[in-house]
Amino acid sequence: MTYRYVGIIVGPSVYKGIKLGKTYYENLIFYEKIGKSLNIVPCYFQLKDINPGMQNIKAYLKQSDNSYKLTTIPKPQIIHNRIFTNNIEEKNKIKLLQNEGILIFNEDNRYTKLAIHKILIKNPDLLPFVPETVKASKGNLRYMMKKYNELIIKPNSSSLGVNILKLKRIKNENWELKYHNRNLLIKEHFSNKWPVMLEDALTAHQNIIQKRIELSLYKGSPFDLRVSVQKNGSGEWQVTGIVCKVAKKGKFITNVAQGGSCFPLEEILRELPHLDILQVYKDIELLSLSVAQQIEGEVSNIADLGLDIGITNEGVPMFIECNGRDLRVTFRKANLLKEWEATHSTPIKFANFLLEKFKHNFKQIDDGH
Ligand SMILES: Nc1ncnc2c1ncn2[C@@H]1O[C@H](COP(=O)(O)OP(=O)(O)OP(=O)(O)O)[C@@H](O)[C@H]1O
Ligand SMILES: [Mg+2]
Repeated sequence: MTYRYVGIIVGPSVYKGIKLGKTYYENLIFYEKIGKSLNIVPCYFQLKDINPGMQNIKAYLKQSDNSYKLTTIPKPQIIHNRIFTNNIEEKNKIKLLQNEGILIFNEDNRYTKLAIHKILIKNPDLLPFVPETVKASKGNLRYMMKKYNELIIKPNSSSLGVNILKLKRIKNENWELKYHNRNLLIKEHFSNKWPVMLEDALTAHQNIIQKRIELSLYKGSPFDLRVSVQKNGSGEWQVTGIVCKVAKKGKFITNVAQGGSCFPLEEILRELPHLDILQVYKDIELLSLSVAQQIEGEVSNIADLGLDIGITNEGVPMFIECNGRDLRVTFRKANLLKEWEATHSTPIKFANFLLEKFKHNFKQIDDGH
């Protein structure tokens, strides 16, 4: 029998959990369900398990009794990466595998917010939807404070909602600095002399300063969206799902890791009757697809993005940030189970598209079963 394997690179905690049926944010059943209908066998392994120059790998495969068994199989020719690939060695290994003809998608998934900003503002159509963003420095803060009334200062990468400061002009040169310290909301007022926390944020870390988008409110708390944008079975970008993240009472950040809660967008928009629901959806979709296409122009092999998009009071979508590896759990938390499943099945459909497109380049794998 001929098998069509699609590899899924997972991290150590997911890998360890496979045998125990505890794979955290990855729902392997969704990969397998779509795999069955496309004659694709998903196989799971870690990056350290696959090596250039080797014919075979050991990967977990689902068995007919629903257990998972480490099995030696020919190296899959299409791989969906689900880990952050950070270091040079990992990146080099991926390059070598690609040189062997293996297609790895979402390989490069940890980009800085500033790098993405620079890519997006090259497209004049996107400019109105991308808040100005600069590297944190004293000079840049002075510049941004002259120009805007509200600012966000945050890490250039991977903050998970931690170490984010908000600045708001109260009047003229009077400002309010807000930040969360665990569950405490700290407020400091200042005019000429910047608070120590602010000074530190400009010097100690790799931070950025961004114009704050006046996020629309739901029951008094700001909310934004997680938009899953993925390549589909026709090789095109699609919006697989949209979910709302509402900040915990009193907070200005919506991250689930910081107590934010998730709801279907429809539910939130019902509370905002001044907005035209269809138009809001259309605008979010248009912005998300344009953002993905623009990033694709400069980052190769991307196929699975999780965008954070804010909505203003007038219903205009605004880009906040792009996550290169969406954990997808926001959909589960909002009980959007169809969308949650689709975030897993769409990459397999895309893998199928690649298998078909490049089938003449790939060896047929016959396991002799
Ligand atoms: N410019 C902004 N305007 C309004 N709110 C913002 C802005 N930047 C950040 N926020 C709020 O803070 C949250 C966290 O910021 P962001 O998504 O940029 O970083 P992060 O999720 O902490 O980063 P990472 O994904 O790298 O861990 C956003 O979801 C949003 O609620
Ligand atoms: Mg975010």
